Amino acid sequence: MNPPPVLRRATPADAAVALAWTPGDDDLRRWAGPSTRCPATPESLWADINNADATPFALESPEHGLVGFGQVRFREQTYGHLARIIVSPHHRGLGLGRLLCTTLMREALKLHPAITGYSLYVFPDNPNAIALYRSLGFVDRGMHPTYYCMLMEAPLSA
Ligand SMILES: CC(C)(COP(=O)(O)OP(=O)(O)OC[C@H]1O[C@@H](n2cnc3c(N)ncnc32)[C@H](O)[C@@H]1OP(=O)(O)O)[C@@H](O)C(=O)NCCC(=O)NCCS
Repeated sequence: MNPPPVLRRATPADAAVALAWTPGDDDLRRWAGPSTRCPATPESLWADINNADATPFALESPEHGLVGFGQVRFREQTYGHLARIIVSPHHRGLGLGRLLCTTLMREALKLHPAITGYSLYVFPDNPNAIALYRSLGFVDRGMHPTYYCMLMEAPLSA
C-alpha cells in the first residue's frame, strides 16, 4: 500500500469502525476477546477494551483511512502483550497484519522497556492469525486455563 499506513494512538471512533468490520458476535469476540459483551455497541466495546493497562493503536492509511487496530499491554511485568488485533476485511492479504504486529511490537518496547519478550492470545481455530504469528517468531504455549484461547510467545529478537 503506497503511501504506507502509519500507527497512531486510537480513539473510541477507531474502535467503532473496527466494530463495524465485525457485525457478528463470534467474529467480534475473535479479535476483541471472549468476554466482550454482545451484541456490542461502540460504547460497550470501548468500555470493555479500554483497560488502564492497555494502550490502543490505529493503523491508518493516508489514502484508505483506518485499516487496522490493536493494543499493547504490559503482561506479568515481563511481556509486551499484543491484543485486539484486526485488519479491515477490505485490506487483508496485503501484509498489513504483519505491519501492524511488527509496529505494535516496537511500540511495546518503547512503552515498556523492561519487557523480555512478546505474548498474545489467539483462538486455536484461527489459522490465518496463527500462521501470521508463527511467521513472526511466536510459538504455542498452551491453552488459557479459563478461556478458549491459546497463549503464544516470542523472544525480544522476533
Ligand atoms: C489475522 C489478520 C490480522 C491477518 O491480517 P492480514 O493483513 O490479512 O495479514 P497479512 O497480509 O499481513 O499476512 C501475514 C501472514 O498471515 C498469514 N495469513 C494471512 N491471511 C491468510 C490466509 N487467508 N490464509 C493463510 N495464511 C494467511 C500468512 O502467514 C501471511 O504471510 P504470507 O503472506 O507471507 O503467507 C486478519 O486476517 C484479521 O484481521 N482477521 C480477523 C481478526 C482476527 O482474527 N484477529 C486476530 C486476533 S488474535
